[in-house]
Amino acid sequence: MTICKETNTEVIHEEGAIGTICKVFRAFHPDIIIELGTGLGTFTWMLAEEFKNIDIYTFEKNKPEYQLAIKRTNYPDNVHFCTGDLLTKPLNMLVAVLGLNGTKVLYCDNGDKTREVELYSKHLKAGDMLGIHDYLTEVVPKNIEKYLKAFYPVNHKLFEQRGLSTRLWLKE
Ligand SMILES: C[S@@+](CC[C@H](N)C(=O)[O-])C[C@H]1O[C@@H](n2cnc3c(N)ncnc32)[C@H](O)[C@@H]1O
Repeated sequence: MTICKETNTEVIHEEGAIGTICKVFRAFHPDIIIELGTGLGTFTWMLAEEFKNIDIYTFEKNKPEYQLAIKRTNYPDNVHFCTGDLLTKPLNMLVAVLGLNGTKVLYCDNGDKTREVELYSKHLKAGDMLGIHDYLTEVVPKNIEKYLKAFYPVNHKLFEQRGLSTRLWLKE
């Protein structure tokens, strides 16, 4: 298990995944990154370290351990913590963030990524990026392909070759 020493929380992604993800995000020049599933805030912290000048929105249901973890860490002002249930029905706050101006990355790392893709990928605009964690381990391609008709894969080979379970797509 890898621990992020600044937050003292577990890195939930595979070794080397976050560097690879951030490199692809950086080449894409997003204005906004949206993370679904803050957890203990580890990936949020790493994104904030890497992208100091863009808005990072992160969503999580109201869990006491999550609140405690993020309170222990001094996150910069460009990180916006949002609370709500993402899965029962579309969360208005997230739909509003997806409607903001600017190029977006939507990174699905929540309790049910297939459901997140179903509810929120349609709110992305042409040129926005969609990311899914736990692809092939938790997310079954045939269950999401109907939502991805307007998307094309980005760097899938790179993630495959490195044994990483993140996949990214761009909306046409
Ligand atoms: C795998 S963790 C996120 C890890 C985090 N992205 C990271 O890399 O450090 C998934 C999170 O999704 C949250 N979650 C599960 N169901 C949810 C829901 N319906 N609405 C909002 N958050 C939910 C869980 O509480 C959990 O903290």
